[in-house]
Amino acid sequence: MAARRIGVLTGGGDCPGLNAVIRAVSKTLVHEEEAELVGFLDGYEGLVLDRTMPLGWEAVSNILTLGGTILGTSNTANPGRWAEKKDGKIVTSDRSGDAIATFQRHKLDGLIVIGGDGSMCIAGDLIRKGLPIIGVPKTIDNDVIGTEMTFGFQSAVAVAADALDRLHTTASAHHRVMVAEVMGRYAGWIALHAAIASGADILLIPEIPFKWEVVFDACRARVRKGRRFSIVCVAEGAKPEGGKMVIHRTVEGSPDPIRLGGVGRLMAGSIEQATGIESRATVLGYVQRGGTPVAFDRVFATSLGWRAAALAHAGQWGRMVSWQKGQLSDVSILDIACGCRTVPLDEPLLAAAKAVGTSLGD
Ligand code: F6P
Repeated sequence: MAARRIGVLTGGGDCPGLNAVIRAVSKTLVHEEEAELVGFLDGYEGLVLDRTMPLGWEAVSNILTLGGTILGTSNTANPGRWAEKKDGKIVTSDRSGDAIATFQRHKLDGLIVIGGDGSMCIAGDLIRKGLPIIGVPKTIDNDVIGTEMTFGFQSAVAVAADALDRLHTTASAHHRVMVAEVMGRYAGWIALHAAIASGADILLIPEIPFKWEVVFDACRARVRKGRRFSIVCVAEGAKPEGGKMVIHRTVEGSPDPIRLGGVGRLMAGSIEQATGIESRATVLGYVQRGGTPVAFDRVFATSLGWRAAALAHAGQWGRMVSWQKGQLSDVSILDIACGCRTVPLDEPLLAAAKAVGTSLGD
């Protein structure tokens, strides 16, 4: 029997651990069934335009600790809504047929998609059109439905917590309010974990619209108690009650075109004006996504990749590998729809943060 051929792609924003998954999938399948692996370049773009690289043992050697993705990625390429600039305007067309043709041209038995909510949503479309796909959930935001954790998240939290620790000492020295803006458009998981890890005084997440006066009072109350500095950890998607998220720019043709940024600066300026306490803002941005995965993410990504390879080996297509109740598991990609896993208001960590004196601004 001819060796099976499996395609692999990484889609959406990158995160630490993508290469660890590529390595685990490839090594497992090459080792267990001498499968041939085809890597598609730049996410779904490579599938539509047929741009590939072989993913043999050599290609995936020595990439376990490497950030980014050796395959490249794209968070705009969507076969079903392919965006192109024509006469200065963005026009969209359905190029799913090209994606399927590429799959068939390479005589693939299945495709492994390593991606976040957007990539899983696209995978769902392609599954409905007949492609056999297995998903591996990634993202620093930890917001993919169907799994309690994504790889990349712990690495981002480590960066954010380290930054908050550093802001702590300079805030204390200068008696300032230091605001750190972390990533998280609709889900405040990074902010929540980093704030608890570093003992931030105020934590603002998209799921809980904040009241300006509560934030100002929290800073004033600390001064009254003799603590002349405060640390504010704000997710980029946090917004005031009745207000809107701060949009930095829009990316035409992207499945979710808004790009956030600026709430940290707005927050620091407003606090300084209202309380008279000198305030500064730091935007952590893409440093949260780059660099080497922490040890946890290397282990987790390897486990997820190994499990995805096992599903491919068993021909269990249409499944996304997941982490539930402390165990590896898998769920139907079609069942997880195209949503986003936000922080539920009864999340125990929110209660824990409050219990140790962190204001949620509500
Ligand atoms: O989804 C991951 C993420 O880093 C978000 O936290 C952030 O809002 C967004 O991607 C930024 O997207 P881009 O890479 O297109 O600027």
